[in-house]
Amino acid sequence: MYWQGLINQYKDYLPITENTPSLSLMEGNTPLIPLKVLSEKWQVEIYVKYEGANPTGSFKDRGMVLAVAKAKESGSRGVICASTGNTAAAAAAYSTRAGLDCLIVIPKGKIALGKLAQSIMYGAKIYEIEGNFDHALEMVIHTSKHSEYSLVNSVNPFRLEGQKTAAFEICEQLGEAPDILSIPVGNAGNISAYWKGFKEFHKKKGYSLPEMRGFEAEGSAAIVQNKVIENPETIATAIRIGNPASWNLAVEAANESNGKIDSVTDEEILESYRELAGLEGIFAEPASCASIAGIKKQIESGEIKKGSKIVAVLTGNGLKDPATAMDQLRIQPEILKANKDELLNHLKQVAR
Ligand code: F0G
Repeated sequence: MYWQGLINQYKDYLPITENTPSLSLMEGNTPLIPLKVLSEKWQVEIYVKYEGANPTGSFKDRGMVLAVAKAKESGSRGVICASTGNTAAAAAAYSTRAGLDCLIVIPKGKIALGKLAQSIMYGAKIYEIEGNFDHALEMVIHTSKHSEYSLVNSVNPFRLEGQKTAAFEICEQLGEAPDILSIPVGNAGNISAYWKGFKEFHKKKGYSLPEMRGFEAEGSAAIVQNKVIENPETIATAIRIGNPASWNLAVEAANESNGKIDSVTDEEILESYRELAGLEGIFAEPASCASIAGIKKQIESGEIKKGSKIVAVLTGNGLKDPATAMDQLRIQPEILKANKDELLNHLKQVAR
C-alpha cells in the first residue's frame, strides 16, 4: 500500500485516540541516501536522512502533524510558536490544513528567505521581534498559558513523539540501526526525539542503539560550553539558539548512548554545505550541514572510527535559504548572446 502519512503509518507508536483528527500532508518516508564520495574519502559508510523532502521542506513536519492534530482534538482556537523559520513554516501549513489559526513569533532579519515566504503563503499571522529565538520562545510560552492558543514548539511533547518516527524509518530503511547518528542541535528537541525513537525500536523490535552525536554551531554552543549564550550568532540561522529548551534531554541522549554534544564552526558548516552539493548532488540548508561537518571533525580527531556506519540527519532543504547559497558564488556566470552558435563557439574557445 502507498504511504499514508505519519499518523496512519505509526499509529501503534503514537499517542492517538479515536478523537484525534486524521491530519496529513503525507509527511515522512523521506529518502535515506548513501554518500559515495565522502564515504570513500573518509573511509566510513555514511547515509543521509534527507528531511528536506518533507512537504514543507524540513523535519518539523513530523512533529507538527501530531502537535496540530492534538491541538485540534483539544479544541484549541489555534497554535502559536517561536521559530528560526522551519517550525513556523510547518506550523503554518498544518494549522491551515486543520482549519486552525497560526501565530508565529520570529527574530527580525534572521529568518531565511524561503521559510518566511512559506509562512506568508500558508497564511500565518507573523510577529517579528527585536530579539532572538530565546526571547521569542519565552513570549509564546507565556502567551499560550494565558490564551486559547496551543504551544507547538518542541517543549510540546507531541512534537517529539512525531519526530521520533524518523529513527523508526532509519532502522527500517537500513535494516538495522547505524553505529552513529549525527544530527544538528538547536533547541535540542530533535536529538531527544531520535533517541526516544531508537530506544523504542530497541525495546520492541530488538534493533541496536546508535551513539548519538549532536552538533551545535560554535557561536551558539550553549550545551558544549555549559552556559546560556546571551547573543548567539551563526550563519546557520536555524540553530541560532543560546538557551535550548530540551538541553537536559539532549545531554541525556548523548550520555546514555555513549555519544557526545560537540560544536562546529561556521567555516566548517559552509565547507560541508558546499561539499554535499558539489560532490554528492545533495542540497541541504546550512544548519543541516553541521551533521556532516561534525562527522568530518570527529573522524579527524579519532572519535569516530574508520568503517563506522553513520546516518547524518539533513534536517532542512537547501532551497530554504537561497541567500546563503548565492553568497557561495565565487565565479560569476559567463555572459553570452542569445544566439544558437554562441555556446558552442564559447566551448571551443575555452577548450583551446
Ligand atoms: N536543523 C534545522 C533546519 C532546523 O530548523 C532546526 C531547528 C534544527 C536543525 C535544530 O533542531 O531545535 O530540534 O535541535 N529549528 C527550529 C525552528 C528552532 O524554529 O525552526 P532542534
